[in-house]
Amino acid sequence: MKDIKKITCIGAGYVGGPTMSVIAQKNPNVEITVVDLNEQRIAAWNDADLSKLPVYEPGLDAVVGEARGRNLFFSTDVDKAIDEADMIFISVNTPTKTYGKGKGQAADLKFIELCARQIAAVAKSDKIVVEKSTLPVRTAEALKSILDHTGNGVNFHILSNPEFLAEGTAVTDLHNPDRVLIGGEDAEAIEALVQVYEAWVPRERILTTNLWSSELSKLVANAFLAQRVSSINAISELCEVTGANVDEVAHAIGKDSRIGSKFLKASVGFGGSCFQKDILNLVYIARSYHLDAVADYWEQVILLNDHQKTRFAERIIKTMYNTVNGKQIAFLGWAFKKDTNDTRESAAIYVADHLLDEEASIIVYDPKVTAEQIYRDLDYLGTRTAEENRRLVTVVNTPTEAVTGAHAIAILTEWDEFKDYDWASIKEGMKRPSFLFDGRKLLNGAELQKIGFSYYAIGE
Ligand code: UDX
Ligand code: UDX
Ligand code: ADP
Repeated sequence: MKDIKKITCIGAGYVGGPTMSVIAQKNPNVEITVVDLNEQRIAAWNDADLSKLPVYEPGLDAVVGEARGRNLFFSTDVDKAIDEADMIFISVNTPTKTYGKGKGQAADLKFIELCARQIAAVAKSDKIVVEKSTLPVRTAEALKSILDHTGNGVNFHILSNPEFLAEGTAVTDLHNPDRVLIGGEDAEAIEALVQVYEAWVPRERILTTNLWSSELSKLVANAFLAQRVSSINAISELCEVTGANVDEVAHAIGKDSRIGSKFLKASVGFGGSCFQKDILNLVYIARSYHLDAVADYWEQVILLNDHQKTRFAERIIKTMYNTVNGKQIAFLGWAFKKDTNDTRESAAIYVADHLLDEEASIIVYDPKVTAEQIYRDLDYLGTRTAEENRRLVTVVNTPTEAVTGAHAIAILTEWDEFKDYDWASIKEGMKRPSFLFDGRKLLNGAELQKIGFSYYAIGE
């Protein structure tokens, strides 16, 4: 197999954009083109002002600044990029199906299939096709079948190379991955991709497996991580009624090296584009093989997460004398975690929806999320009309506007800046009693109570 000279990535989203930027940064001799159908998105990736990149990630502007125009290009010309590439990454979105068989559980593979058909139609030379998107196990088989049956008689080698970066830390995760996983059947194709990563990742951290192990490992990794969050969140409810403190419990169990200390932070519930989708996918696969005990086990991780979000909203309502009608509730944070502008499946959306059912008046401040995105998230739920959402929800650009005159504050995202606010003066500007519901257990409760807040945190 010849050296890889040109790489194309289809999909310039949260995964494709940062991943290709780092591959380009570390492989200056490989030309990388990231293509997307979304013209606005590509224009933003090409914006001379690096603060306007469509994905906010700490450190990403510097990486793009270094490689863009040298060996990193963003384009909407998908056919040309496919034609010229030796290796093509598929990094398009694979949302949960919203229609038909497997609705609400299975992954929707229509974007993947469109990519495969386009690659098959365009390719005039042999290509290595790399699955970067998270996919159900055995998708590679379908990909291969489409490529081989509709192509121009050229050879396709399929690899699975799941991405493990977490949003908010994408650049450091990519620069220093715990492992890179490559699944495939053809040794030469695998080696070609190993070489791309070897430019900066030590060889012993590059794991190679068969295709199916690689595909399944991605789903299982996310399921295990999400399961830890649901496990500690289940314990948080128990702590609230028994007088134990969930952070103390997490610290105590995390010291056991068999358990480990990471991913034990109790919260209002996990969000993000991956955890729920990948578990639903795992559940769907298990059920399709009639493994009901397995499916039920993993489904519980999601049910508990839904319970945690509902429980937080109900706690707010109950504490505020069983009515939030017309009361101003300031939401600090809307993103699904700190240091990202991504809101997919964010707990804030579901907590807001619950409170809006009770006619609360919500004012949102998030350092990175736009008003358009917040309304889009609420409208997408379809619970009420767009007009109703705009009547009940206001989005502001400063925390002061959100909290002034508020009956309550709810912390939904663990942004660092919230810790540094002048909480005493915030308290002065609020209605009394001044409620503070800390969905991230972010602030110092004892201090806030001293200031005069009625403070409630998850798990204490
Ligand atoms: C356990 C706890 O480890 C210990 O900290 C606590 O004080 C008492 O309970 P123990 O039951 O003696 O200790 O053994 P452990 O090594 O934890 O194994 C428990 C069971 O799990 C065994 O049947 C073991 O075979 C099984 N196991 C353990 C697995 O099947 N797979 C594993 O990866 C680990
Ligand atoms: C996750 C995986 O971590 C990553 O490896 C995979 O590639 C994609 O999915 P991501 O969703 O970006 O990454 O963020 P992550 O840090 O895993 O957080 C997911 C959610 O869990 C967030 O809402 C976060 O706030 C929540 N969480 C995480 C907790 O509530 N408590 C924790 O201890 C950790
Ligand atoms: P992820 O988090 O997996 O990166 P995103 O939704 O952020 O998901 O990004 C996926 C991108 O893939 C979107 O920008 C979408 O426009 C793009 N895309 C989907 N299908 C195609 C296709 N057939 N050709 C080119 N781009 C596509």
